[in-house]
Amino acid sequence: MKPLEGVADLVRLAKQARRRAHAPFSRFKVGAALRTRRGEIVTGCNIENATYGLTLCAERVAVFKALSEGMRRFDSIAIVADSARLTSPCGPCRQILWEFCGEIWVHMESLRGPKKTVSLSELLPLPFDRKHFSRSRTGTRR
Ligand code: THU
Repeated sequence: MKPLEGVADLVRLAKQARRRAHAPFSRFKVGAALRTRRGEIVTGCNIENATYGLTLCAERVAVFKALSEGMRRFDSIAIVADSARLTSPCGPCRQILWEFCGEIWVHMESLRGPKKTVSLSELLPLPFDRKHFSRSRTGTRR
């Protein structure tokens, strides 16, 4: 993967998106900015709801917005929150990011200063994806 460039723009847009978070229950606002390989950037924020369980994280909002706009190939995502520890994507978001974005850079940054960039495969080693159930040419049916 080529090194991550333009992270400042991604972070700026993730911060803007974070202000639109709907998080009345946790009060924990998160913003994300997902970039396509062509350089388009789509943002997301977390959206909570009264049943809690239907909450969508900022990362998945960004991914689904981008997919619904026809974007398919991505190179990076920035995730911003106001936390002492960096906010890294939850398990379900890691899975969705892997399936729809593949190996991308994940840049995490806190409004309080700390930042870190890792690859998605570092966050989700040994991922499960469609390769696991595509039939092999010689495979026998069980
Ligand atoms: N959240 C995100 O949006 N992204 C993350 O990476 C971690 C958690 C949201 C979900 C929920 O609205 C709030 O943060 C607290 O978990």
